[in-house]
Amino acid sequence: MAEREKLVEVKNLKQYFNVGKPNEVRAVDNISFDIYKGETLGLVGESGCGKSTTGRTIIRLYNATDGEVLFNGENVHGKKTNAQLKQFNRKMQMIFQDPQASLNPRMKVSDIIAEGIDIHGLAKSKEERMNRVYELLETVGLNREHANRYPHEFSGGQRQRIGIARALAVQPEFIIADEPISALDVSIQAQVVNLMKKLQKEKGLTYLFIAHDLSMVKYISDRIGVMYFGKLVELADADELYNNPIHPYTQSLLSAIPLPDPDYERTRVRKVYDPSKHNYKKDEEVSFREVKKGHFVMCSQSEFEQYQKQYS
Ligand SMILES: Nc1ncnc2c1ncn2[C@@H]1O[C@H](COP(=O)(O)OP(=O)(O)O)[C@@H](O)[C@H]1O
Ligand SMILES: [Mg+2]
Repeated sequence: MAEREKLVEVKNLKQYFNVGKPNEVRAVDNISFDIYKGETLGLVGESGCGKSTTGRTIIRLYNATDGEVLFNGENVHGKKTNAQLKQFNRKMQMIFQDPQASLNPRMKVSDIIAEGIDIHGLAKSKEERMNRVYELLETVGLNREHANRYPHEFSGGQRQRIGIARALAVQPEFIIADEPISALDVSIQAQVVNLMKKLQKEKGLTYLFIAHDLSMVKYISDRIGVMYFGKLVELADADELYNNPIHPYTQSLLSAIPLPDPDYERTRVRKVYDPSKHNYKKDEEVSFREVKKGHFVMCSQSEFEQYQKQYS
């Protein structure tokens, strides 16, 4: 197989808030992973574990406390000219959890979608601008009559489609979707995920898909990373992670997912993660190690040896 091309490389990234104060938070604490061109990397973990902060730091909404993010080999957080910054802002887009809060209620849909087109001068005339808006509306399953309406006139699922159209308007390469379906009715969630899949295929997009539970993530992700208190504790191909979760925290997350299978449900045992079970010694090095090919787990040397025996 040809070497896969890396689009995003996150290296020892740290994002601390209130550094040196009593309320210091190590929201992202030394995490490293790559995102390959054209793939979807799912990022899961319970609320407050640092998923959004990871996404926001990658996209430079925050200055990193330490570490690096490379995008197409270029350091996102390095010194940049305004023109370079603008290019990053165009190539990396974000879709948010709450389309209600992320769309300006006083702006018409056409202006919301065209905002990036205007900022980056991507349309030569008013007509070209509107045609782009119409085309984008159709791309996300809405229609041109929607251009003159306001966000409150739409359902949650439609508003998320508008958010997607706005992100697509500047022809990005990489989209960070921060819990894009969590606020939607379950019946609508699959539609939005299917739309994102379709767009990815058509446009060769790369996604970081953030979610707090593992059920929909499996369906969209090629690989999945699991976060726990600011650290990445496991990373593997989606199927592999579901079939052979190794870190006890991942096992507990998976054991919490109900499946529509009565036999499975009868035998499903909820596992509770107890971090003290690791019993790490004071100077023991706990790091991200490759237990099986492409399957990484945060562990000590002795756990590593035990996991290798047990799982490979
Ligand atoms: N701007 C901020 N200032 C201070 N603390 C923050 C800020 N943003 C997030 N945090 C804290 O960082 C941790 C991770 O938050 P977040 O990245 O939002 O988690 P998640 O998206 O996984 O729910 C939480 O403890 C949160 O309270
Ligand atoms: Mg979040």
